[in-house]
Amino acid sequence: MRKKVTIVGSGNVGATTAHWIAAKELADVVLLDVVEGVPQGKGLDLLEAMPIEKRDSYILGTNDYADTANSDVVVITAGIARKPGMSRDDLLNTNFKIMSDVVSKVVAASPNTIIIVVSNPLDAMAQAAFKQAGLPRERVIGMAGVLDSARFRTFIAQELNVSVENVTAFVLGGHGDTMVPLSRYSTVAGIPITELIKPERLAELVQRTRDGGAEIVKYLKTGSAFYAPSAAATEMVEAILKDKKKILPCAAYLQGEYGISGLYVGVPCKLGAKGLEQIIEIKLTAEEQAGLQKSADSVKELCTVIGVA
Ligand code: NAI
Ligand code: 2OP
Repeated sequence: MRKKVTIVGSGNVGATTAHWIAAKELADVVLLDVVEGVPQGKGLDLLEAMPIEKRDSYILGTNDYADTANSDVVVITAGIARKPGMSRDDLLNTNFKIMSDVVSKVVAASPNTIIIVVSNPLDAMAQAAFKQAGLPRERVIGMAGVLDSARFRTFIAQELNVSVENVTAFVLGGHGDTMVPLSRYSTVAGIPITELIKPERLAELVQRTRDGGAEIVKYLKTGSAFYAPSAAATEMVEAILKDKKKILPCAAYLQGEYGISGLYVGVPCKLGAKGLEQIIEIKLTAEEQAGLQKSADSVKELCTVIGVA
């Protein structure tokens, strides 16, 4: 049977996620938004690209959750995005209201679905979605680490003039200024980057990764990044639909892992048909653990403000 993926929010990230999923023929796509006409227009436009792409993905644009019924995966991108001068946290209250509304409708239409949260501030929104959905933690996962580590990989590949395919990188923690890029576990063809890049330069690349979202916002002025974020969400969707057992950094609800409980934080996760199938615990140095804890503390602060801590 054909797989079905719903994307809630047909803005930049949502529509581009639909594009990647359809172009890879991963599933039929339902594109939903509150604004009338936009998902229908973008959905039809994308559908008309399929003969050129030689893909049989069906794309439907809608404002009606009935069309989303029995989705295998739902990607939530609904909400407002950053503008220059705004942090991800400035989006908190508005996006919390939107998230609560969206999640209840998503779960009513697709009680067995797996939800991937993209809306910011990511970790707090994933926590809000989890609390609202009443689904097991395996089926509510946040997207941020795949994007943050893709940015880190890009900068490492540029620095060393090597293929991006040779570079693996891990970024843990919340999707924010306190994210924890793990240089020790980042490699080029298996060689730790700490052996290839001088510490001072590496610190600059780490900082650029932390500021990666703001760097794009500064250029765009009217919104935030969407090509890499949507590619990241698509990689997670693909890992789930194809039961790949792929290890990716995702925001997951921790229950004691890494010494953290009752909170969404970015950690290495195995994604497969059941959603989050395993949280991989790696040994952290005292400094890395402190960085992760600091990141978790700032996620908790946001969750407390919206009453989902
Ligand atoms: P956008 O403004 O282009 O699109 C957001 C869409 O959500 C709009 O079309 C809007 O009409 C829709 N929407 C608002 N309320 C809704 C509701 N109740 N139901 C359905 N749709 C609703 O924004 P963009 O660039 O697509 O970003 C979306 C979200 O994703 C933002 O919160 C942004 O900060 C976040 N984001 C997160 C990333 C991550 O790494 N986790 C990366 C990039 C963006
Ligand atoms: C990003 O990192 C805005 O969270 C978004 O690009």
